[in-house]
Amino acid sequence: MQTNPLLAGKVAIVTGAAQGIGATYALALAGAGASVVLCDVMDPQVTVDAVRAAGGTAIGRITDVTDEAQVAQLVAAAIDAYGQVDILVNNAALFGGLPRKRFTEITADEWDRVMIVNTRAVFITSKAVAPHMSERRSGRIVNVASTTVHNGTPFLLHYVASKGAVMAMTRSMARELGEFGIAVNCLAPGLTMSDAAKTGSSAVALERAVQARSFKREQLPDDLIGPLLFLASDESGFMTGQTLVIDGGTTMV
Ligand SMILES: NC(=O)c1ccc[n+]([C@@H]2O[C@H](COP(=O)([O-])OP(=O)(O)OC[C@H]3O[C@@H](n4cnc5c(N)ncnc54)[C@H](O)[C@@H]3O)[C@@H](O)[C@H]2O)c1
Repeated sequence: MQTNPLLAGKVAIVTGAAQGIGATYALALAGAGASVVLCDVMDPQVTVDAVRAAGGTAIGRITDVTDEAQVAQLVAAAIDAYGQVDILVNNAALFGGLPRKRFTEITADEWDRVMIVNTRAVFITSKAVAPHMSERRSGRIVNVASTTVHNGTPFLLHYVASKGAVMAMTRSMARELGEFGIAVNCLAPGLTMSDAAKTGSSAVALERAVQARSFKREQLPDDLIGPLLFLASDESGFMTGQTLVIDGGTTMV
């Protein structure tokens, strides 16, 4: 495992890391030398094992990131295990399992559930690490949004709204936390071939996404590694409140 000295000795919490892109982020951060604290509503042990098998350092906890008490325990476990939290990657979300439908068919309960997981969780986890990071006058928060916000993607209105909120929250949190040395940025991937995206998207939608790109190929979780490490490290030290779009040149902002 090659260590990026920028992340050696750092400690990163990754939410939604039991599978998919969150697992890729966890492996990448650990591969770059960070100790990773992985959480998910599902048992993240499979990712913990993968990190350790690759020579990295990880612990995992089943955590519902919408629950303040559970998130407080997660942060306490991270500090207990590694003494600090330097990086928070807010990746957990409801996405793949969401049925695509017209907004006129989305129920108010479905709306609320997506908003609670995709926005309240970002608020709760960030709120939980902010005092610790502020005390250390150092920290990097990476919120995961989506280019569905730029593209006006239809049939997922609650999801699109939640990710728009994540971008907006990133800016306001960046303004509040800058004076404490904490950077808050947003990573906005295009349609990325996680298992959730593969099962949740039609073949037509996947092909349409390829054709809309400047680089006409599928977007893979590995395409997000470089941008994630950039935002998680001091390589992006003077950057905050920004959204980095990674979609093979579909969206140009
Ligand atoms: N795959 C894509 O095309 C794509 C594109 C843009 C953005 N994204 C975003 O990237 C992230 C990862 O997407 P993915 O494709 O790997 O999806 P995924 O469904 O595989 O991963 C999401 C993870 O979040 C976890 N999770 C859900 N609710 C949770 C909760 N309350 N507490 C803790 N964990 C919870 C799930 O169990 C799951 O492991 C999401 O934020 C998604 O919105 C994905």
